[in-house]
Amino acid sequence: MSQPVSMDAYQEVPAARGWRLLSLQEVGSTADLLRERAEAGAPERLAIMAARQVSGRGQLGRPWRSPEGNLYLSLLLRPAEPMRHLQEWAILVAVAIGTALDPFLPNPARLRLKWPNDVLVEGAKLVGVLTEAAAGPEGEIAWLAFGIGANLAVAPDLPDRATTSLLRESGKAPMPEELAPALMAAIDHWRARRQSEGFEVVRQAWLARGPALGAPLSLRQPGGVVQGGFAGLAGDGRLLLRTPRGLEAFVTGEVAA
Ligand code: BTN
Repeated sequence: MSQPVSMDAYQEVPAARGWRLLSLQEVGSTADLLRERAEAGAPERLAIMAARQVSGRGQLGRPWRSPEGNLYLSLLLRPAEPMRHLQEWAILVAVAIGTALDPFLPNPARLRLKWPNDVLVEGAKLVGVLTEAAAGPEGEIAWLAFGIGANLAVAPDLPDRATTSLLRESGKAPMPEELAPALMAAIDHWRARRQSEGFEVVRQAWLARGPALGAPLSLRQPGGVVQGGFAGLAGDGRLLLRTPRGLEAFVTGEVAA
């Protein structure tokens, strides 16, 4: 859990329309701070950004290295929907990140998605997302938080996976303050499209940047590794793999890099 941060430590900075963006120099984890705000009843479209995190968290309890120059942003949403829609939201955020990053990449076609919402360039990780949510008494989403770590200026050296940065890919890195509002606007854009056209439009946008059909994937699960050929996304965002047992849909697990 993060140390309490006094309101004096926050600076409110320009955000996308309808959002409130709080910016800090250093924090334990923006995800911890946002969770505290969410549990205290903060309205949706609150965003917290920090220049550095000293205990940034990644998926599966891994640390997230958080040197200055990259984006560390947590976003709060409160969609009035059942918890079973979480996977759709995870997919939507991946698509939105792609939309927000496109203008910063000389060749946006090189940006690819790894289920559910890692963003890669040629297999090297550019953006990671930590999705956290709480259920209300009727099984509805009480709050939904996306913690987005984007390598803008620095690609941390990791022993187990390749990483890249926008600086490496394009020769220049946007400031976190520039990318954060673009991300919020892109989430609003895809949220509105999902609302008016249905999740299918988001699913198709994800698939356009996802693996090729039939590509071999390994999915790490608590009980072991499942191997299969990528067979698309189910209508609710679950990962479809063609395994020796047939066509299987997965809601959890980590696709190996
Ligand atoms: C991953 O492992 O791929 C997810 C990484 C998520 C990192 C972000 S940085 C902003 C937010 N604060 C955290 O402590 N984690 C997320």
